[in-house]
Amino acid sequence: EARMIIAIDGPAAAGKGTLSRRIAEAYGFHHLDTGLTYRATAKALLDAGLPLDDEAIAEGVALNLDLGGLDRDVLSAHHIGEAASKIAVMPAVRRALVEAQRSFSTRLPGTVLDGRDIGTVVCPQAAVKLYVTASPEVRARRRHDEIIAKGLDADFDAIFADVKIRDERDMGRADSPLKPAEDAHLLDTSEMSIEAAFLAAKTLIDAAL
Ligand code: C5P
Repeated sequence: EARMIIAIDGPAAAGKGTLSRRIAEAYGFHHLDTGLTYRATAKALLDAGLPLDDEAIAEGVALNLDLGGLDRDVLSAHHIGEAASKIAVMPAVRRALVEAQRSFSTRLPGTVLDGRDIGTVVCPQAAVKLYVTASPEVRARRRHDEIIAKGLDADFDAIFADVKIRDERDMGRADSPLKPAEDAHLLDTSEMSIEAAFLAAKTLIDAAL
C-alpha cells in the first residue's frame, strides 16, 4: 500500500496544528509541525548566545537538528516564534530543515506535515493539500483566549499587531513565501469549529485514499 502525505499550510494561529493532530490521530499517520523545526533552531541559537542574523551559523545549527527532540511546550514562547520567523528567511536554513522534513514525510503508513510551504515546496506531490486560514481578528482572538485560559495576562491589541507583523514577514519573504499551492483546498475556519474543519478535511482525504 502506498504511503500518503497530507500537506497543511496557513498563517499563524489559523488552527493548522489542532486540525493536523486530529487528522494524524484519525488516520494513524505521523505528524510533524514544521514550525517547531524553525523554532528549535532559533532556540538553540538563543540558548548558545549566537546571533540570529548569521546564515552560516544558523545553517550549522539547522543541519544538526534532531526531529525526535521537538517539544511543543518548550518551544511555544512568543519570543521563540519571533526569532523563528527571522531565521526562516534564510535560504541555507530552509534548505537544511526542508531536507529533514522531506525525510520525515516518507514514513509509513502516511504523514501529516503542517507549516507555511509544505504544499508549495516541501511536498508538492502531497495527495491532499489544505490551506487553512481565518481572519487576522479571529486568529488574534484565539491566541488571546488561549493565553487567558492558561491563567496568564494577554493584551488583544498587542497580539493583533503581532499576528499582522508575522503574516507580513511570512508572506513577504523571497524564499518560500506563505501562499496557497495552486491545487490546495482553501479552508476558512473563521466561523468553523474544529470538528467541522476536520469533517471537511476528512471528506477530501477519504476521496484521495
Ligand atoms: O507555525 P509557527 O508559529 O510555529 O512557525 C514559526 C515561524 O517559522 C513562522 O512564523 C515562519 O516564519 C516559520 N515557518 C516557516 N515555514 C514552515 C513553518 C514555519 O517559514 N514550514
